[in-house]
Amino acid sequence: METYIENKNIRERGERTKWFTQARFGMFIHWGLYAIPARGEWVRSTERMPHQDYLKYFNEFTAADYNPREWARLAKKAGMKYAVLTAKHHDGFCLWDTKLTDFKATNTPAKRDLVREYLEAFRAEGIKAGLYFSIIDWRHPDYPHFGDRQHPERDNPACKNDGRDFNRYLDFMHGQIRELLTGYGKLDIMWFDFSYKDAVNDMRGAKWKAQELINMVRELQPHLIIDNRLEGSGENSGTILTANPSDFAGDFACPEQMIPPRGIVNEMGQPVPWEACITLNNNWGYCAADRHWKSAQMVIRMLTECVSKNGNLLLNVGPDARGRIPAESIKILEDVGRWMADNGESIYGCGMADFPKPECGRFTQKENLLYVHVYEPQCGGICLSGLAGKIEKMRLLADKSEIKTARHWNQSEYPADAFFFLNPATNDNYPLPDSRDTVVEITLK
Ligand code: GLC
Repeated sequence: METYIENKNIRERGERTKWFTQARFGMFIHWGLYAIPARGEWVRSTERMPHQDYLKYFNEFTAADYNPREWARLAKKAGMKYAVLTAKHHDGFCLWDTKLTDFKATNTPAKRDLVREYLEAFRAEGIKAGLYFSIIDWRHPDYPHFGDRQHPERDNPACKNDGRDFNRYLDFMHGQIRELLTGYGKLDIMWFDFSYKDAVNDMRGAKWKAQELINMVRELQPHLIIDNRLEGSGENSGTILTANPSDFAGDFACPEQMIPPRGIVNEMGQPVPWEACITLNNNWGYCAADRHWKSAQMVIRMLTECVSKNGNLLLNVGPDARGRIPAESIKILEDVGRWMADNGESIYGCGMADFPKPECGRFTQKENLLYVHVYEPQCGGICLSGLAGKIEKMRLLADKSEIKTARHWNQSEYPADAFFFLNPATNDNYPLPDSRDTVVEITLK
């Protein structure tokens, strides 16, 4: 029998992500020049906008109402335990005072190092703070233009790639990452985005000199966790799902705008830390016309679903050009925060339960505490399949009031199952105490 020697990277990522899999809920923040055109962060690519045309926004970027402490307080109120801000998106605009390009916030009318202020504000609120860094850079002259999969000049024959020196681009990219790793204190997450393959180039892993990059990350900030997009993207997870992940496979996988049907495990069936990144409307960057806001109920149930599958939810806000988080986002996050204040114990440090998903909603579990998330009231008692005789006590999590199991005459043919009513006085479940998600805490024997 071959002895299984656990891969070093699997062992080390388990150590590094301990706080991450406890935290479960984070804030993603997409903010930059693209907030001025207000048509999403891919506006240059979708509209094939030349850099010269995009520059007109540069001298308008004032960040007049930027107050990251307000952002941090909102994240805290929502029950979020970590945050990730775009230090640089695909457009190449840098929110920190980089020495390697003039295309940065400190050269705009804002004249501020927005990254430094963000990190200080979130740390002051006790929220772990990370940075998103686009390894794609549509501004940089040495980055592939013509024929690239998504570059704004991909169809422009005047932007052929003769003379472009990709190694010079990599020196620039690695140099910027070194600036962030050495000039801004202890970072918690570096969220790289993203690798891809097109007809011309295989922009993955070694193409980015990812081994050199990860060696630098692990040397400068060994505790830092990174996502899997030095190899992958939202459509391809890379070697993090294998038994032998590469050194730069990442510490967590990051499905995007969806929640994996069964959570994420590697080819050995071992759980892989993961985080679903999802927008509050349908855009990462500020999009004035996008009014398709998710409800607080949808967010609560997305978060519960992620945790029930051993995952995290990184929920996005897209501040406007002035630096204000949209009022609709604030309202949703404050509603979610009120639910989290009552029910956060069923989220933080929890994961997949030892029991199959119940008909009434979902389970999350932390050691001998099993949390029933009741979305749908059931007629004739809420059924806990297979749990008869396994329950020491039950409490409505929000107010810690006692809930008793019920054994009625009409349930006598189901001795293996436990039943309960949320309104025992009337033996019914209407209305649910919280129609969005009523949580009952079960202490297992
Ligand atoms: C995709 C998008 C990018 C966004 C990221 C968030 O990679 O290209 O705009 O920042 O998803 O996960």
